[in-house]
Amino acid sequence: MNRSHGHRAPSGRVAYVSGRYLPHAQAGVHIEDRGLQFADAVYEVCAVLDGRLTDEPGHTERLERSLGALNMPMPMSPAALALVMREMVRRNRLKNGMLYLQVTRGAYRRDHAMQANPKLSVIMTARAIDIDAIGKRRSEGVAVIALPDLRWKRCDIKTTGLLANAMAKTEARKRGAFEAWLIDSDGMVTEGSSSNAWIVTGDGVLVTRNLSSTILAGVTRAGVLAALKSGAGTGVEERPFSIAEAVAAKEAFMTSASGGVLPVVSIDGREIGNGKPGPMTQKAHALYSKLDQSSTAP
Ligand code: PDD
Repeated sequence: MNRSHGHRAPSGRVAYVSGRYLPHAQAGVHIEDRGLQFADAVYEVCAVLDGRLTDEPGHTERLERSLGALNMPMPMSPAALALVMREMVRRNRLKNGMLYLQVTRGAYRRDHAMQANPKLSVIMTARAIDIDAIGKRRSEGVAVIALPDLRWKRCDIKTTGLLANAMAKTEARKRGAFEAWLIDSDGMVTEGSSSNAWIVTGDGVLVTRNLSSTILAGVTRAGVLAALKSGAGTGVEERPFSIAEAVAAKEAFMTSASGGVLPVVSIDGREIGNGKPGPMTQKAHALYSKLDQSSTAP
């Protein structure tokens, strides 16, 4: 991965900042940007596979919802946004990667109160992903640990206020795990620090937490649900599950734009099922990949 910044050689990466395309290393926002000072900002991460944006309508719709929840308008029309996103893929020669999009309320003299008609900052960055590393994770599965959910009460808004998520992910990595599953005060799993959580019960039913303000409405989660409905013979329940039920489950997996469907093979060091990615997880991945390809605009 190219990590060039500042004084190093230019990476060829291009960033978008409020109407301008700039060399990645030179792109920036003002020091009084409210995204920096208050996390007064929302974001989206959209996967690019084979040069095509994955689940683009879902990401655009959620961006609009997150902005609306914080009384910010869309910075441009969905059609214009789609053009800029494609231009970013093109200028970065992105084949397999991630597009990161962030909208902040903009730069103002520091004041907690939110400006009513803000001049928004729009930021986009692109980065290649290691498709082989993801493939390895998909074939071997990943470990998760359970941690208390320390986040606020509006996890349905995709804000950049990710301190609790970052702390949980850091703890997971420190303990040799890939993801942390967050536990609410009732002992139920809300979601992962940057993914949605799923299990497969002994009866072969797929379970993922129902949508509410306690979790992010994952676009990949929605895609997998739609794919499962199109593929006959798979029972799905949208309800909370406990960490005990997860440990006793036949299979477990996580979903996110960055990783797609990833098998979870252990929780807190305890193996799920036989400790290997299971057939229902593989089916969910296969159905989702197929649906996604057929629904993505070229
Ligand atoms: N994370 N839950 C949380 C808390 C997330 O941050 C994410 C996404 C998801 C999955 O949503 P989606 O399927 O729409 O990616 C669930 C992104 C990838 C990130 O922060 O990098």
